[in-house]
Amino acid sequence: MALSSKQVHACVVLVVLCIAARTAAAWGRIDDGLEVNWGRGSHGTVSADGQVVSLSLDRNSGSGFRSKDTYLYARIDLQIKLAPGNSAGTVTTCYFLSEGSWANHDEIDLEFLGNSTGEPYTLHTNVYINGTGSKEQQFHLWFDPTADFHTYSIVWTPLHLLVLVDGTPIRELKNHADRGVAYPSWQRMRLYGSLWNAEDWATQGGRVKTDWSLAPFVAQYRNFTATTSSPGAGGGYYDQEMDATAQQAMKWARGTYMVYNYCADSARFPYGSPPECYMP
Ligand SMILES: *[C@@H]1O[C@H](CO)[C@@H](O)[C@H](O)[C@H]1NC(C)=O
Ligand SMILES: *[C@@H]1O[C@H](CO)[C@@H](O)[C@H](O)[C@H]1NC(C)=O
Ligand SMILES: *[C@@H]1O[C@H](CO)[C@@H](O)[C@H](O)[C@H]1NC(C)=O
Repeated sequence: MALSSKQVHACVVLVVLCIAARTAAAWGRIDDGLEVNWGRGSHGTVSADGQVVSLSLDRNSGSGFRSKDTYLYARIDLQIKLAPGNSAGTVTTCYFLSEGSWANHDEIDLEFLGNSTGEPYTLHTNVYINGTGSKEQQFHLWFDPTADFHTYSIVWTPLHLLVLVDGTPIRELKNHADRGVAYPSWQRMRLYGSLWNAEDWATQGGRVKTDWSLAPFVAQYRNFTATTSSPGAGGGYYDQEMDATAQQAMKWARGTYMVYNYCADSARFPYGSPPECYMP
């Protein structure tokens, strides 16, 4: 039987739709890897199809999740869509945190600081090693992070820590342990996400407060992947230095979108910036 061009067209559309549907559901249930551990049910929920974790914040509570596994080196990728409109005072997070004592904890932070309508979110990053932080770098983004999901990644290997936004590296902290600079390498960490209120400091230094009449504020997370592998196991990311293209991309992102860098804050470090700042 010969098909008319209209029928062929209909078939093609169907095939394309099917492929699109398969891709959309290509990842497993997000709660296979993550569990809501703060505000569960009331403020933190998983969609019925298991694809999306929604965190909400109102006057009564924020909410959060954590990974079921802990990691000693991993690459994690997570897609996040932030609360739109006036999100002043809110903080949406995605971070690694070690399990042991707080005084000696390791932490790798991504915190999205909300803003008033039309003003940009700030992506605040920091790293704590053995209880000591003070490695803040902040960025604006080159897109509206509330309009759609974007992929945020943390790569933590024995070589370096990398933060990527939609695949573009924005920050690298190399392992200079051989030169006496502490590096997170001895404690397992768990991944956490949360939406909470920090109106006393988050937005424009705390001057802009949360407008609670707009609550609940909602952030959504989907497509969580954690890649773990050992050196030489074909894990790709594990032994990889940044190539020239990645370095160029990072230079662009930092040159254009970085709004604070502890390494350049001479008022804070009058006797010279910390050693990792000038190690190649
Ligand atoms: C972590 O800090 C403590 C002091 O609080 C120190 O005794 C310990 O050696 C440090 N651990 C590492 C692995 O650097
Ligand atoms: C909020 O908007 C102001 C003005 O555009 C900007 O300076 C600031 O970095 C933004 N982010 C935060 C968290 O205040
Ligand atoms: C889900 O995440 C993986 C790992 O980052 C990525 O390769 C894939 O493209 C993502 N899927 C979609 C539909 O965005």
